[in-house]
Amino acid sequence: MLNLPNKVTIIEVGPRDGMQNEKNFVPTEIKKRFITKLRNAGVKEMELTSFVSPKWVPQMADAAEIAADCLAEHTRNIVLAPNRKGIDRVYSTHCNAVAVFVGVSNSFNLKNINKTTRDSLKELRPVIHELKEKNYFVRACISTAFYCPYEGKISEAETLKLCREFVEAGVDELSVADTIGMAAPNEAYSLFAKLKEQFHHTLLTAHFHDTRRLGLANILASLQAGIDRFDTSAGGLGGCPFAPGASGNTATEDVVYMLRRMGIETGIDLDQLMEAVEVVRPHLSRQIDSGYYRLLAHV
Ligand code: HMG
Ligand code: MG
Repeated sequence: MLNLPNKVTIIEVGPRDGMQNEKNFVPTEIKKRFITKLRNAGVKEMELTSFVSPKWVPQMADAAEIAADCLAEHTRNIVLAPNRKGIDRVYSTHCNAVAVFVGVSNSFNLKNINKTTRDSLKELRPVIHELKEKNYFVRACISTAFYCPYEGKISEAETLKLCREFVEAGVDELSVADTIGMAAPNEAYSLFAKLKEQFHHTLLTAHFHDTRRLGLANILASLQAGIDRFDTSAGGLGGCPFAPGASGNTATEDVVYMLRRMGIETGIDLDQLMEAVEVVRPHLSRQIDSGYYRLLAHV
C-alpha cells in the first residue's frame, strides 16, 4: 500500500524560478497578471520575486514593483534574498515571508552568490535571527542537495549538515532542491526520509527540477517519505541561470493532475491554472512542454 496524505500543499514558484531563467524580460504587468491568475486558481503559497542584483539577473529587476503590487491577504507571499543587501530591500516592502538561498556545493554557491557556502551561512545566521525577531516567516532554499553541475554527486551527510545549520539558525521551512534535476527516486526517498526523521518542527518541502523527467517519480518517492509540500512551477518554467543544464521545475499542472487522479487534494483548479499559463505563454522564449499542456493542446 502506498503511504499517501489526503492533502498536499503546492508552493508555486513560477513567478520567481520560472521568470528568472527566461531569455526575454517578461513585462512586469504580465508578471502581475500571472500572479493574480495563479491566486485565482487557488495557490496559497507563492514565490513572487527575488531581491538579487539586476546585473546578475536582469529578469528580477522589477522585484520592488512586484512586491509592492502583488501582496495578498490569506496567502504566503514569499520573496527571495541571498544576502544582507537583499534583506534590506525586503525591509522596504510589506512582505512578511522571506526565502534565503544557499548551495550545499561550494562551487555552485560561488557561481550563484559569489561567496563560499560557509560565508553565506555566516552572513545569513544573524539575518535569520533578526527576521525571526521581526516576526517574518523564513524559508531556506537548499540548492544542489543531490547533485551539483560543477562537483557532481553531493553526499547526503553534507546536505543534512547544512539543513541542520539552517534549522538551528531558526528557519521555519527548508525547501530542499534538486537544482539540476538529476536525483533518482531512491535518492529522493532516502534524503527526505532522513530529513523527516531529523526535523520535526520545521516545514519540509521538496523542490524538483524536471530536467530528466523524473520530477513526478521523485514527488511520488517523497510522498512515501512523508513529504506533503512541493515547490512547482506553472507551465514547468524555471531553472537557475548559474546551474548549467538546469531546466524548469516540475510543472504545477502535472503535479496537480497526478495528485487529483490519486485522490489527493491541492485546492488548485486546473482550468484556472492553465489560464495563468496562457497569460505568460506568448511572452516566453520557450515552448510549454508539460504533459498536461500537451494533453490539452493535442500536441
Ligand atoms: P556581488 O557582485 O558579489 O555583490 O554579487 P557585491 O556585494 O560585491 O555587490 C555588487 C553590486 O551588487 C553592488 O552594486 C551591490 O549594491 C549590488 P553596484 O555598487 O555595483 O551598483 N547588490 C545587490 N543589488 C540588489 N540586490 C541584492 C544585492 N546584493 C548586492 N541583493 C549577489 C552578489 C548575491 C548580489 C549576486 O551574486 C546575485 O545577485 N546573485 C543572484 C543569483 C540568483 O538569483 N540565482 C537564482 C536564484 S537561486 C535558485 O534559482 C535556486 C533555487 O530555485 C533552488 C534550486 O533549484 O536549487 C532557489
Ligand atoms: Mg529552482
